[in-house]
Amino acid sequence: MSEWDAGWWRAAILLTGLLAGILVPQRARAQMVTDERVHDPGWWPTKGAYLRADYVGPQACAECHPAQAEAQKTTAMALAGGPSHIYTVSGGSEAFSQPLQWAMGLGVLGQTFVYERQGSFYEGRVSFFSSVDRLDLTPGQHTTRVKSLADARGRLLSEAEAKECFACHTTAAVAENRLDPSQLIPGVTCEACHGPGARHLAAVKSGANAKGTIFNPATLAPGDSMDFCGACHRTWSDVRQMNVRSQNNVRFQPYRLLESRCWSPDDARIQCMACHDPHQPLISEPSSYDEKCLACHATSKGTPLARGKKARACPVEGRNCVSCHMPKVEPAGLHFSFTDHRIRIARPGQPYPN
Ligand code: HEC
Ligand code: HEC
Ligand code: HEC
Ligand code: HEC
Ligand code: HEC
Ligand code: HEC
Ligand code: HEC
Repeated sequence: MSEWDAGWWRAAILLTGLLAGILVPQRARAQMVTDERVHDPGWWPTKGAYLRADYVGPQACAECHPAQAEAQKTTAMALAGGPSHIYTVSGGSEAFSQPLQWAMGLGVLGQTFVYERQGSFYEGRVSFFSSVDRLDLTPGQHTTRVKSLADARGRLLSEAEAKECFACHTTAAVAENRLDPSQLIPGVTCEACHGPGARHLAAVKSGANAKGTIFNPATLAPGDSMDFCGACHRTWSDVRQMNVRSQNNVRFQPYRLLESRCWSPDDARIQCMACHDPHQPLISEPSSYDEKCLACHATSKGTPLARGKKARACPVEGRNCVSCHMPKVEPAGLHFSFTDHRIRIARPGQPYPN
């Protein structure tokens, strides 16, 4: 290549880079789909590539981290899935009963049953909804009509779906990329977020330097930490790929938060952990979030932030911010109101912003 050609190439590459910078919205740059994250080297939640023997269970962590262990086991996440009772469907003279092997969901929203039959996994046709205290059709199964008893057994899950289901609701069910629910640790516990702990335990117990022997999510940049929680709660990019353009996307907090004007990819004050300690139960008292908002929205003149943004104080009220700016939204069929993480001025009668 001549000097002249090389110069043109360099200019073309520079121009492409500049254009990409203009065309790709700021907030999208750090975000990735979970499928890519789990294929990168190193630990990431829902990655099932490790040996089952590398997992030690939350009791083993409790010995040295009692504070996290005591609180974490009372969270909804720790109770997100595990073994269950008997599920029976009957119709006429036929009856079908199957030991109900697993229940997903603690019952804050509800419970859906998953069972194995002849090597395949099924999602129960009915779920239990806590808010209305009764069974109803499992979300997503509303449109499938029951034509036979076999249909009433529920929906056959593909192998990939079954794996993901257990990977998001339990710990260590997928090891060496194979689903084996008989080996699972119930719920989302320590190693679902920190990765398998055997190496860490061995290092600490032998008196060696334990730094770097277990994943600490505190080391993640804010944008990456949103994808971290998004491995299960769905990342911004996952939701884009799923193309959920309705109130149903209110369930996907990372997506909604990134769509908010408060979001900034390099500000830790607006990442999930700024408002939620994953080792503690969810706090429902609205006023307890005020200080999180006021960390940016303190003065009426506005606090200057990165990228030329300014966070002004509220002209309406100085407390209970989330009660007005993070409205509750109930998607059809879910019998549960989610908190819209797209922080905004929610005017009455305004349509739901997708
Ligand atoms: C025998 C005691 C012991 C056990 C058991 C133990 N840890 Fe630790 N852990 C430590 C010590 C000591 C440190 C501090 C290491 C350091 O900073 O040098 C630590 C640090 C950590 C860190 C921060 C790591 C970092 O690099 O910043 C995490 C996260 C962690 N432990 C999670 C766990 C989990 C999850 C389990 C169970 C799978 C567990 N630990 C079991 C003693 C233990
Ligand atoms: C391995 C999957 C997984 C990861 C990783 C994960 N979550 Fe969760 N989370 C869940 C599941 C499943 C539930 C639903 C639990 C239930 O109600 O049964 C949940 C529920 C929650 C709740 C609601 C608790 C309640 O009491 O209603 C909060 C808050 C939460 N997660 C925050 C986070 C944050 C913050 C992170 C990142 C640090 C995170 N989660 C990472 C799977 C995960
Ligand atoms: C990518 C991760 C992921 C997959 C895959 C997944 N879930 Fe969930 N599920 C969640 C999270 C996170 C929540 C917490 C509520 C929310 O934000 O929607 C949840 C909530 C639930 C709830 C409501 C629980 C409650 O009480 O809070 C049920 C029931 C449930 N899931 C069942 C299932 C079943 C059954 C499957 C598989 C067939 C499945 N989920 C697959 C992540 C996942
Ligand atoms: C839902 C995900 C999740 C689960 C489950 C979880 N952690 Fe963590 N853990 C985190 C995150 C995120 C951080 C970083 C917190 C931060 O940035 O403030 C962390 C930090 C830690 C630290 C380091 C604290 C420090 O000061 O640096 C320890 C130790 C720890 N966790 C232990 C545990 C133990 C033990 C369990 C199980 C009882 C557990 N974690 C369960 C997400 C989780
Ligand atoms: C600025 C504060 C703030 C941030 C940042 C934040 N949340 Fe929340 N979150 C809340 C509030 C407030 C609630 C509602 C609590 C209640 O009313 O019980 C909530 C509720 C939840 C729930 C329970 C289900 C629901 O929709 O009500 C989950 C799950 C959750 N958050 C996950 C996340 C995840 C994942 C992130 C990061 C993408 C995140 N949150 C970031 C404030 C925040
Ligand atoms: C990291 C700093 C930060 C945090 C934390 C934060 N915000 Fe913001 N917020 C901003 C910035 C910056 C803007 C203005 C963005 C712009 O001008 O484009 C903004 C805009 C807003 C707006 C106007 C939105 C619109 O659509 O016009 C409201 C309302 C708001 N924030 C409320 C809140 C509430 C309530 C909380 C706590 C739950 C909160 N913010 C937390 C930085 C933050
Ligand atoms: C009673 C409901 C309510 C509460 C509580 C409330 N706000 Fe507001 N807020 C509003 C309304 C309505 C507006 C729009 C005002 C207008 O446009 O005239 C607004 C506007 C804002 C704006 C945009 C300001 C601007 O100049 O663009 C921000 C930022 C904001 N609020 C933050 C907060 C914070 C932070 C808190 C808690 C300390 C809070 N709000 C509490 C109703 C509320």
